[in-house]
Amino acid sequence: MKNWVLIFGVLGLFIFLSCKNKTTSKNVKMYEHFIIPAPNKVFLNDEKVSEITFLNIYLDDTLKTSYLEQLFHNTKRSTFTTIDSANVTATIDTSLGIESYVLDISRQKITIRSGGRAGLQYAFLSLSQVVTFNGYPLPQLHIEDSPKFTYRGMHLDVGRHFFNANDVKKYIDYMAYYKFNNFHWHLTEDQGWRIEIKKYPKLQQIAAFRKETLIGHYNDNPQKYDGKRYGGFYTQDEVKDIVAYATARNINVIPEIEMPGHAQAALAAYPELGCRQGPYEVATKWGIFEDVYCPNEKTFTFLQDVIDEIITLFPGKYIHIGGDECPKTAWEKSELCQKIIKDKGIELGEHGLQSYFINRMEKYINSKGKQIIGWDEILEGGLAPNATVMSWRGIEGGIEAARQNHDVIMTPGTHCYFDHYQSESPNEPLAIGGFTTLEKVYSWNPIPDSLEVDKHKYILGGQANLWTEYIPTYAGVEYMAYAREMAMSEALWSESKDYSDFLRRYDRHTDYWKSKGVNMAYHVYELKPKIMADNGKAITVSFDLPQGSNITYKVDGKTMLAKPGEFIKIDKSAQYVFSGGKDDRTGSSLLLNFDLHKATNASIAPDPGPNYSGCGVGAGIIINGITGSERKYGG
Ligand code: ACM
Repeated sequence: MKNWVLIFGVLGLFIFLSCKNKTTSKNVKMYEHFIIPAPNKVFLNDEKVSEITFLNIYLDDTLKTSYLEQLFHNTKRSTFTTIDSANVTATIDTSLGIESYVLDISRQKITIRSGGRAGLQYAFLSLSQVVTFNGYPLPQLHIEDSPKFTYRGMHLDVGRHFFNANDVKKYIDYMAYYKFNNFHWHLTEDQGWRIEIKKYPKLQQIAAFRKETLIGHYNDNPQKYDGKRYGGFYTQDEVKDIVAYATARNINVIPEIEMPGHAQAALAAYPELGCRQGPYEVATKWGIFEDVYCPNEKTFTFLQDVIDEIITLFPGKYIHIGGDECPKTAWEKSELCQKIIKDKGIELGEHGLQSYFINRMEKYINSKGKQIIGWDEILEGGLAPNATVMSWRGIEGGIEAARQNHDVIMTPGTHCYFDHYQSESPNEPLAIGGFTTLEKVYSWNPIPDSLEVDKHKYILGGQANLWTEYIPTYAGVEYMAYAREMAMSEALWSESKDYSDFLRRYDRHTDYWKSKGVNMAYHVYELKPKIMADNGKAITVSFDLPQGSNITYKVDGKTMLAKPGEFIKIDKSAQYVFSGGKDDRTGSSLLLNFDLHKATNASIAPDPGPNYSGCGVGAGIIINGITGSERKYGG
C-alpha cells in the first residue's frame, strides 16, 4: 500500500512539474502583451528579448498596401525596404485560413505567414501594437491567431446625422485597427437620403435635406426644434473612394437601402412612391413613421433602379434592405394594397405584403448576383429564401432564422447598441436611453445558449450598431463607439476572454487614442454605490470595481482605504467623499451625505407597505440615511 502511495506520489509530482514547465515557458500570461483583440495563442519564444531595434519590412509589391504603409508610418522605428536588408518578411501560406496568421518575433528576424491578405494585415496590426504598446526591445513572441467569427461588423447611421467622407474614413480606420471586417453603412432614412443616385436627382435636391431638427430628447414635452436646414449626401465618387479605402483595409462595405419603412425622405422627393397623395416632408424628428413605400410598380421600378446604381458602387456580396419598423397603417388604408393582397392571394394580410415586398426585391437583387440582409422583422410573414437575418430586437429572431437554416448576424439591443448610455453619471451626453456598459459588451457571446449545436454554424458573427439621433458630431461618435468597440472586437475575435486582463490592455489603448486627440469615453473606475440598511444591521456602502483597485474615502478630515466589494460601515452623520481607482487612474469622486436619524437602522416590517422592488435595495432605502432625489428612485 505504502509503495503505491509512493509511486502515485512521484508520478503526480512528475505530471505536476511537466505541466508547470509548459505553462511557465509558453504561457500567454507570462508576457504581458497589449494586443486588442487578444490573439488566441501567444507563446514567449524564450526568456530573452529580440535584438531588433528597428523594423525593416519587406513586402512583395502585390502584398504591400497603402494601409500597411500608413500603419507603419505611424509605428515607431519602422520602414519598408528591400528584401536584402529586411528583418521583417511576410508570405502567403495556403495551409492557413485567409484571416489566420502566424507571427514570429525571434532574436534577429520577424516572420509572418497567412493564408490571405486579410490575415497578413492582422499579423502586421498585432506587430504594430506590440511595437506601440510594449516598445523596444521587443519580446520574442510566437503568435498563432485566427478570428472566432467570420463576420465582425460595425454599423453607422448617417441618416439621422451626416458625417462627411473624412469622418467615415476615420470610422473605418478605427474598425481596421481592431480587426473588424464589415462596415454596415446605413444610408437612407426618414430624416435624410445620403447617397447620390444619378437617375433620381430629387434625392439629392430634396431627400438629402430636412428643414430643421429636433433638439433635446424626443420625450421632452413640448418638443423643440432648431429651425436650421440640415443635410448632405455622398457623391458616387466619394462612395467609390470610401469603398476603395475600406477594401484596402480588408473591410467589406454593406450599403443599407431601407425598405419598405423608414422611407419618408424618399417619399418627400418622389411622392408617387407613397400610398397617399402627399405632399411628404423629410422627417425632422426621430421615431417610426407611417408613410412608407407603397408596393406599387413605380416603387419597384424606383428601388430596382437604385439597386442598379448601388451594385456598381459596392463590390461586396451583401445589400442590406432594412425591413425593420414598417407600420402597416398606410397599407391597411390603401385600396391598391388591399387589391394586391386579394389578387395575389397573399396570406397574413399586410404582414404577408411586407414579405411579398422583400421577396420581390430579394429576387431582383439575387438576379444581380448579390444577397440580401434584413433586420429580423423580415421573418414576419415568411422569410425570403436566401436572406441573411440581422437579429436586433433580441436574440429570438436570430434563433428562429438559424433554425430555418438561414445565416444570421447577431446584434441584439441588449449588448450591441452603442447609442445606449454607458454610464449612469448625470454628466453623460444626452442619449436615446438604455444602458450598455463596457463590461456588458465584453461579456457578450453571439451564439445563444439555447441554440442547438448543429445550428451554430449559421451564426456568422455579430455587429455593434451606432444610431445617431443623439450624436450630432464625430466627437460624439468617438465617445459612444470607440471604447465599447474595443470590447466588441474581443467578443467577436477571441476564443477565451478575461475582463480584468482586457482592462489592463484597454487602459493602454485608451491613453494612445487620447494622445491622438480622440474623444474616448472612460468609465472603468466610476463609483456606483450599493448602500444597504436592513433591519437593525449596520448601514454599509460597497463598490464593485476591477480587481486590484482601491477605494479611498474621506470623512471628518480622515482618509481611509477599502477594497472592492468591502462593506464600508457608516456610523456617523457626515459627508463621505469616495474615490476609486488603481495606480494613477481614478474615476470621478462621489460625495454622499449621510444623515443618521432616529429611524436609521431601525427594524422595519412595512405592512402592507409600498412596493420597493424597483429601487434595488428594498425597503432599506427608507432607513439608510440618504435623502431621496427626484432624479433617481434610490434614495
Ligand atoms: C433598428 O434598430 N431599428 C434596426
